[in-house]
Amino acid sequence: MFRTNTCGELRINNIGQQVTLAGWVQTIRKFGAITFIDLRDRYGITQLLFGEELNKQLEENPLGREYVLQVNGTVTERSNKNKHIATGDIEITVSSFTILNKSEVPPFTIQDDTDGGDDLRMKYRYLDLRRNAVKKNLELRYAVNRSARNYLHENNFIDIETPFLIKSTPEGARDFIVPSRMNEGEFYALPQSPQTFKQLLMVSGYDRYFQIVKCFRDEDLRADRQPEFTQIDCEMSFVEQEDILTMFEGLVKRIFKDVKGIDYAEAIERMTWEEAMWQYGNDKPDIRFGMKICNLAFDKNMFPSKEKIFDEDMFDIPPFGGKGATIVAIAAPNCSEYTRKQIDELTEWVKRPQIGMKGLVYIKCNADGTFKSSVDKFYTAEQLKAIAEVANAKAGDLILILAGAEERTRKAISELRLEMGKRLGYRKEDEFKLLWVIDFPLFEYAEEENRWVARHHPFTSPKPSDIDTMINNNPVIENAAEYLQHPYANIKANAYDMVLNGNEIGGGSIRIYQKALQQKMFEALGMNQEEQQHKFGFLLGAFEYGAPPHGGIAFGFDRLCSILGGSESIRDFIAFPKNNSGRDVMLDAPSSLDDKQLDELQIKLHLKA
Ligand code: AMO
Repeated sequence: MFRTNTCGELRINNIGQQVTLAGWVQTIRKFGAITFIDLRDRYGITQLLFGEELNKQLEENPLGREYVLQVNGTVTERSNKNKHIATGDIEITVSSFTILNKSEVPPFTIQDDTDGGDDLRMKYRYLDLRRNAVKKNLELRYAVNRSARNYLHENNFIDIETPFLIKSTPEGARDFIVPSRMNEGEFYALPQSPQTFKQLLMVSGYDRYFQIVKCFRDEDLRADRQPEFTQIDCEMSFVEQEDILTMFEGLVKRIFKDVKGIDYAEAIERMTWEEAMWQYGNDKPDIRFGMKICNLAFDKNMFPSKEKIFDEDMFDIPPFGGKGATIVAIAAPNCSEYTRKQIDELTEWVKRPQIGMKGLVYIKCNADGTFKSSVDKFYTAEQLKAIAEVANAKAGDLILILAGAEERTRKAISELRLEMGKRLGYRKEDEFKLLWVIDFPLFEYAEEENRWVARHHPFTSPKPSDIDTMINNNPVIENAAEYLQHPYANIKANAYDMVLNGNEIGGGSIRIYQKALQQKMFEALGMNQEEQQHKFGFLLGAFEYGAPPHGGIAFGFDRLCSILGGSESIRDFIAFPKNNSGRDVMLDAPSSLDDKQLDELQIKLHLKA
């Protein structure tokens, strides 16, 4: 038998037992004639004691870090107990050992606090995976997987696999393309999600489908994005939005319970997209804290000297009240005593290119009821007080004001709110706040192409009350400057996102299931009949054969895991992730093909210099 026990298993009540363990050498400590070795496996660490006799053998067969070792010995009580590890009360007094395999000196220490940088650990990911911190993440990932599977199974969902080699129909992100050897000059694409397949499964009558499935998107990467990532993908028939929200509220709560032991008893809050944008400046608000955004530009009397304060040099805004002018504020609680230096630093922070503001106005609401601001010379105390009231600031708060063009300013104040939330300790890793964002617009305006694009995807249904508006109007935008006046600008979607601590962890919608409405949707996105048939003929065809009303959702599995695990980066929760340039540095992929392979595929490269 290779081993009788694991390295995480033995306790004080095992004392006296003869055992065999196998694992990796974590540390070697020599004390004169005896040697202590920490032996590690997936389950933990056990201390080994090599007495005088064996110590001599060790000298002849020296061990090194990460050697694979098998030992026989007796479980004995430790004189010097270690409270930090589960096996800390015992050690193994070794009677014989076998070196199962040697190891080169690893390029970084395989410990919780490793000395290896990101790139090195990615290159030797198989070693990095030996570390406790990474292992815990993969265990959490498996726990989330099990919990989701159990819940969905108990609720009659069936796991059905869908193909990876499909047709390229990009809408949104770019597709990853795979050449077909057997079909000269033709290409498959890897699916960005199984969206159309799950809808076809509904047409086939599998009224509750799920799949924990890889999706592929060739898009710019961020900490919470990978080119291949995993979704918990679900679809249901004969449902309305409310049914979906209830079912998947249940799923997420079950995961919280099973994985974190958290009873998320309260109903998940809901917020319309418009509320989210007004009050938090983005569509995935972190509602663990308030500090809501206030619109100061609403009250035109509030800024009588606006030309001086919010002039173009300082804030780069169109004339006050003009199209696109936005003046927004947040009140940071108990920050009125910020020093000059702190405020200067915040000002620099909003001026960084990523935030893109030209300046920051502050008003300190002192505890004694007085005000001190960067705009004192333009405003009376009365006026500052009026601003403080609109900004919901109390005595002791610090009001931070940004102004500029609508979109950029709203984005900037949203970032500033999150940054202040972080600095003030309101964004705790171990506090979880879920939110449904609902009532998204169905369309977004794509300026470069002067056309509509689907905000979620082209299969999302408008709200029932907006279907007539959609059917009865021509989608063409005659006057680009006035696209907001087009009836399509106000159509709301039957779509919903689930947000956790300011991250979008899932999104879905009630789908279009009537052929005519689906065709109208494609037309609105600028697809003529021919293109519709070429790209989505299969779906339009299926809708002719009794498609049931249906809807669904997909959760970002990696993202959900990383938030539950308290990390900002989803890479930590993926066994073999890609780096920020989409490379697998361990495999050194992507890589070039040799001429023979290219020949077989009938592909000739025309690389641009
Ligand atoms: P969506 O595109 O919103 O919806 O994706 C669902 C969820 O997947 C996660 N996600 C990602 N995670 C890591 N890396 C990425 N590159 C990445 N892109 C998305 C997000 C997101 O909320 N078919 C629809 C779902 C539906 O309508 O049912 C879809 O794919 O957490």
